[in-house]
Amino acid sequence: MRQLEWGMHQNGSYLLNKAISKIHRVPASKQALERETSAGYVAQTDAAPAKGASPLNGQQIGHYTLIRQLGQGGYASVFLGEHHYLNTYVALKLLNLYLASEEDTKHFQLEARILAHLRHRNIVRLLDFGVERGTPFLVMEYASKGNLQQFLPHEGALPVGIILPFVTQMASALQYVHNHGLIHCDVKPENMLLGPLNELWLSDFGIAITTTAVSNKEFNTHELKGSVNYMAPEHINGNPMPASDQYALAAMVYQWLCGRFLFQGTDMQVCLQHLSTPPIPLRDHVPSTPRAVEHVVLKALVTHISALRMYRSLPLP
Ligand SMILES: Nc1ncnc2c1ncn2[C@@H]1O[C@H](COP(=O)(O)OP(=O)(O)OP(=O)(O)O)[C@@H](O)[C@H]1O
Ligand SMILES: [Mg+2]
Repeated sequence: MRQLEWGMHQNGSYLLNKAISKIHRVPASKQALERETSAGYVAQTDAAPAKGASPLNGQQIGHYTLIRQLGQGGYASVFLGEHHYLNTYVALKLLNLYLASEEDTKHFQLEARILAHLRHRNIVRLLDFGVERGTPFLVMEYASKGNLQQFLPHEGALPVGIILPFVTQMASALQYVHNHGLIHCDVKPENMLLGPLNELWLSDFGIAITTTAVSNKEFNTHELKGSVNYMAPEHINGNPMPASDQYALAAMVYQWLCGRFLFQGTDMQVCLQHLSTPPIPLRDHVPSTPRAVEHVVLKALVTHISALRMYRSLPLP
């Protein structure tokens, strides 16, 4: 997955090994020991780890035991955890102290504080936040069906009917976020989780920012973060706004409906196209796309003059 995070993602397996010492250990049962040894061996040989394998599996964090790894980001790892007494499952997001800068640590705490104040059926629920031997972690509802990138087929165009429920739920979550003076800034399929009933949960508020911070120019453009495929021109220019999240959602819908990214090329080429190239109309790729759908997607992608001109020249549905 391409990220415009200056100081890119790294393969965390080796660094995770070092992080073990920071975290409290469960009294070593034979089974836990075996799991740990085999995970450690995988990390050392650089072979692709088994799904969910991690040297941290079996560790105790707060009231939870880490069962398996669910995801890995730039400076945090997400694990399935089981509550010791309740036997319930949660997702634990652990800050990786060896990858995180001081700034990342601040963002991590901010992410928890933001989530704690959001209550919406399509936003992942924060259950707790804690620090275990210096490692901050947040506890979330567990999205048992993974993220949307994993859930939807990777190849080809998807019918409108399949994606419509996801788009509706996401639009509702984003409206709620914007009403609370926040911009998510990282709307992408990997940050949309699926609950047990296929309900969509917006997650990962790690780079969310308040509209006030943007107007007060507290947004540091040197720390531009997000995913190039979905990044609105004003976001690239260091001036994100609520419409930037809608642009990202429209770029995702575009990708789902025609089976290809809005723009192709290297990260830099993609950024330049966001800034200056009108998108190819959806119906040029998939002529069966309903005109009304094409209209609304291209309208959400209108953010600059040339695109505006193109949008105005489109026939109304
Ligand atoms: N509550 C959850 N339930 C199930 N899986 C989750 C949950 N939260 C996160 N994940 C998994 O972990 C992955 C990474 O989580 P998240 O996006 O919060 O971390 P991140 O460090 O901010 O990642 P990135 O830097 O790639 O955006 C998600 O794409 C998802 O697959
Ligand atoms: Mg993420």
